[in-house]
Amino acid sequence: MPSTRKAYRAALLHSIADPAQVGVEASYEYFEDGLLVIENGQISAIGAASDLLPGLSAEVPIQHYPDALITPGLIDTHIHLPQTGMVGAYGEQLLDWLNTYTFPCESQFADKAHADEVADIFIKELLRNGTTTALVFASVHPQSVNSFFEAAEQLDLRMIAGKVMMDRNAPDYLTDTPESGYADSKALIERWHGKGRLHYAVTPRFAPTSTPEQLTLAGKLLGEYPDLYMQTHISENLQEIAWVKELFPERKGYLDVYDHYQLLGERSVFAHGVHLCDDECARLAETGSAVAFCPTSNFFLGSGLFNLPMAEKHNLNVGLGTDVGGGTSFSLLHTLNEAYKVMQLQGARLSPFKSLYLATLGGARALRLEDKIGTLQPGTDADFLVLDYNATPLLSYRLKQSKNIAETLFVLMTLGDDRTVLQTYAAGRLVHQR
Ligand code: GUN
Ligand code: ZN
Repeated sequence: MPSTRKAYRAALLHSIADPAQVGVEASYEYFEDGLLVIENGQISAIGAASDLLPGLSAEVPIQHYPDALITPGLIDTHIHLPQTGMVGAYGEQLLDWLNTYTFPCESQFADKAHADEVADIFIKELLRNGTTTALVFASVHPQSVNSFFEAAEQLDLRMIAGKVMMDRNAPDYLTDTPESGYADSKALIERWHGKGRLHYAVTPRFAPTSTPEQLTLAGKLLGEYPDLYMQTHISENLQEIAWVKELFPERKGYLDVYDHYQLLGERSVFAHGVHLCDDECARLAETGSAVAFCPTSNFFLGSGLFNLPMAEKHNLNVGLGTDVGGGTSFSLLHTLNEAYKVMQLQGARLSPFKSLYLATLGGARALRLEDKIGTLQPGTDADFLVLDYNATPLLSYRLKQSKNIAETLFVLMTLGDDRTVLQTYAAGRLVHQR
């Protein structure tokens, strides 16, 4: 097979470690004039253009971006496909928001044509915003997963998704049963898990909407296939937490419900965790579980402020989530702008390099995919972005004042959004051009 080598010349930046563990300066690699070489959908070399150009065959085409930054594709560790049509639903906090807006909106996915249409819009929106991998809640309907994976497969994207399991405390039109939730999930796992770059996530919505029988079967599924993911919500809202106490009085706390049903582990991602206590963070870290930090959602639904320093103290894996439609933007750049404010309100700082880590390598680690995505290291998937320094007049002017890459990166996150993403590449293929 002829090789498909291509090279991209631009400023290059990627995280190589967590700043909380190695300090900011050792956490990233930056080439002001860099070269990224792609071969057969993977990165084959990265370095300074002056080092790599002399050894590059004259036949390899080089695309040059003199005023742009190449970074790894962004990783969204928590988002809801069937909530695409209800972003910005007014007035409620979590439990009333679910009943008033979310459940009726998700019910439309009973119609396969609707699911297909939204999956298409959703994937385009991810790519427009520079998100190349997402951990996705579909709806309770198995076909919602089929619609999503069919669209993702066409573009050879690395994506993770699962059918919501929900057998109580939701409208009849939107519930499954322990048996049907198990059987439907199993059929989807058989069809999709490990196909191309797709992975399946067992998806109990949250403790209040699953019976003990359903949570038992979710745990059983996880034991039946290797490398399955588990995604759910935890400790997002104070009313929610009180409700979990009522529903599971025999358990020590919210996390202990999931622990009891064997839902913690290296591929388990818990969304929000705004009100987790120290012991719960320690238990999550001990089991290799991860938390998805979703700042725009936590602000929008009035849920609270995620305590990132506490998670860091416990060495807990944290990724970044948009949580659309509780979250208000598909853009992880915009989400980082809000994450910075979450830290400010707690008297803490979020360095731009920690932000970069959260949206790339940190997300990859939360998903146990750091050998495949999240950096520009040779041997990983060629999922990367070209960020345009001149995306808007203000960005262009502001960046002209920038003194170094730290400032440039922080401004990209403060002013950036979908307009900043000039191109998105997945497995070496151009999948979005602004
Ligand atoms: N908890 C249970 N379901 C949901 C949901 O759809 N969105 C959010 N933000 N929290 C939840
Ligand atoms: Zn959510």
